Amino acid sequence: MERSLTLELVRVTEAAAVASGRWMGFGKKDEADEAATSAMRKVFDTIPMRGTVVIGEGEMDEAPMLYIGERLGLGYLPEVDVAVDPLEGTNIVAKGTWNALAVVAVAERGNLLHAPDMYMEKIAVGPRAVGHIDIDAPVEDNLKSTARALGKDVNDLVAVILDRPRHEKLIEDVRKTGARIKLISDGDVAAAINTAFSDTGVDILLGSGGAPEGVLSAVALKCLGGEIQGRLLPEDEQQAERCRQMGIEDPSQVLHMNDLVKGEDAIFAATGVTDGELLKGVRYKGSHATTHSVVMRAATGTVRFIDGKHRLDKNSLFSL
Ligand code: FBP
Repeated sequence: MERSLTLELVRVTEAAAVASGRWMGFGKKDEADEAATSAMRKVFDTIPMRGTVVIGEGEMDEAPMLYIGERLGLGYLPEVDVAVDPLEGTNIVAKGTWNALAVVAVAERGNLLHAPDMYMEKIAVGPRAVGHIDIDAPVEDNLKSTARALGKDVNDLVAVILDRPRHEKLIEDVRKTGARIKLISDGDVAAAINTAFSDTGVDILLGSGGAPEGVLSAVALKCLGGEIQGRLLPEDEQQAERCRQMGIEDPSQVLHMNDLVKGEDAIFAATGVTDGELLKGVRYKGSHATTHSVVMRAATGTVRFIDGKHRLDKNSLFSL
């Protein structure tokens, strides 16, 4: 893939973040999501690539833009799969809480799992604990081996779990080990990324969340040298059939890094919409906005943090 694509993709997430951040705290998650989606879509028209959305806002008949199968970019090479979540954490923005992101991931054509819109069981860690997790092992074993890999005691670990009734037993099991828990209202992509940065105070992500978010997290962790394992959780025969249509014959199979994102190269970009442990949210002042983004590439392992200062009155891509 073209190296220059990394910086181009930050422009995509910056625009989505600037558009949706305006909705912070207004209690209007759909409006925030629409703002992010249309801003992101506009910038894609300026990017030199031949992209196809494989993870997006829904099927063609249910999403007006960034739908699965939509072609993006100026139409030049490289030919890439595109996964987007213009606003990861719609409720977060509605409430003005932590860790909403605008996210995009790109890989060579055919390399991203076309994850269906259903739940995925996930376990994710940063680079130092790679090879020390097993989604099929008891949670106590995963916490002990992660703690060992990180040179900590289990009761010094912090596990992030989405605060959902479906995680009641998981939370109980983690508490029994003595590990500390960070229960989050939403946003497990940020949580997965945070496991790769020790100063975020987050060591392991556990529990189920969206499958598309699982693929986006896998791209980020591939760039960061971390690991995620997943398992699709179809809730009925229709969802199981959907998995098969997307090429996953046995939905109960464990999905490792290379099942979620194949190949050596992939690019991941995210811009903070609201404040988080890793990225600051968007700040506005008059006709100016500032953004904080991370962009990374798997082939080289380069991770860049980018502060953007934007003149909203001078850039039509930021017109709200
Ligand atoms: P949205 O941005 O679509 O609202 O998703 C946020 C999120 O919290 C994801 O981070 C997570 O993977 C998923 O929702 C969890 O789904 P649910 O809210 O149904 O438990």
